[in-house]
Amino acid sequence: MKTKITEMFGIEHPIMQGGMHYVGFAELAAAVSNAGGLGTITGLTQKTPADLANEIAKCKDLTDKPFAVNLTFLPTVNAPDYPGYIKTIIEGGVKIVETAGRNPQPYLPYLKDAGIKVIHKCTSVRHALKAEKIGCDAVSVDGFECGGHPGEDDIPNMILLPRADEELTIPFVASGGMADARSLVAALAMGAEGMNMGTRFIATQEAPVHENVKQAILNATELDTRLVMRPLRNTERVMNNAAVERLLEKEARLGSNIKFEDIIEEVAGVYPKIMMEGDMDIGAWSCGMVVGLINDIPTCKELIDRIMTEATDMIQNRLGNLLK
Ligand SMILES: Cc1cc2nc3c(=O)[nH]c(=O)nc-3n(C[C@H](O)[C@H](O)[C@H](O)COP(=O)(O)O)c2cc1C
Repeated sequence: MKTKITEMFGIEHPIMQGGMHYVGFAELAAAVSNAGGLGTITGLTQKTPADLANEIAKCKDLTDKPFAVNLTFLPTVNAPDYPGYIKTIIEGGVKIVETAGRNPQPYLPYLKDAGIKVIHKCTSVRHALKAEKIGCDAVSVDGFECGGHPGEDDIPNMILLPRADEELTIPFVASGGMADARSLVAALAMGAEGMNMGTRFIATQEAPVHENVKQAILNATELDTRLVMRPLRNTERVMNNAAVERLLEKEARLGSNIKFEDIIEEVAGVYPKIMMEGDMDIGAWSCGMVVGLINDIPTCKELIDRIMTEATDMIQNRLGNLLK
């Protein structure tokens, strides 16, 4: 399948794996890219730019296909060494960067001068338009369903994608709630040039996370995610568990007086323990409503091949036959 996104990134299939903290290591990124999609290493999971350089080198050993690095611009006081990470990305010869979080404008010239394609992930049409205006090559439109940070507008993809299609000139991929061929065909119908998946790619053979994480995804239904940190205007969609219930109870009790320090135990530094050690109740971890559609743990190639085969059949036969 050829779309503006496959052409822009030099990939075979219009399927991207979004950056995921403590999931997006070289093994997963390379597996997605080797399967013809676009894999992504999560930049900030690597503690220093030197660590990221090693991860990029590792990914290059595992694949000769294009892959991306995610750079998430966090609303923190002590900012990570973004210039250092960007230098590493450029020197590592990475050709695609997925930016997310705050406005990437201050760093964009360095990436563009190095010939890097930038896809910015955003949760609203106004942010997507801003990304277009400042020179991003594409956007990833992340609906309210998504795992991670859906923003504060709460617009699901059934509305957000056609709205993006109405306003944007640059190509966009649909992100949030994407799992299978139905997602891809629907995304294309709503004007997207491909789709981005997070949660679905965690439940794959190559995702380098503890088996408990994959099982939790298999066991969960679409009713099992919660929104946390809304009172802090840093809303995150996470898998429900004991820590999340505790966190929500604090939010209800403290109301608008709540501070980040009140919930630090449930959210700070929990990812390694969850993703690497499988300690599933220790804290809040991002997870999309799409868990309700995930029932197996295929290889990335099996997953992507299945999506493409079924999407082709759906377009040619199921939809095509409606016109006969
Ligand atoms: C466990 C997990 C960690 C994530 N970490 C990040 C991150 O560090 N940076 C980022 O830009 N997006 C992050 N995301 C969001 C994904 O890249 C993607 O946009 C999102 O998962 C799409 O929604 P879906 O889960 O419904 O597919 C994360 C998502 C998950 C599930």
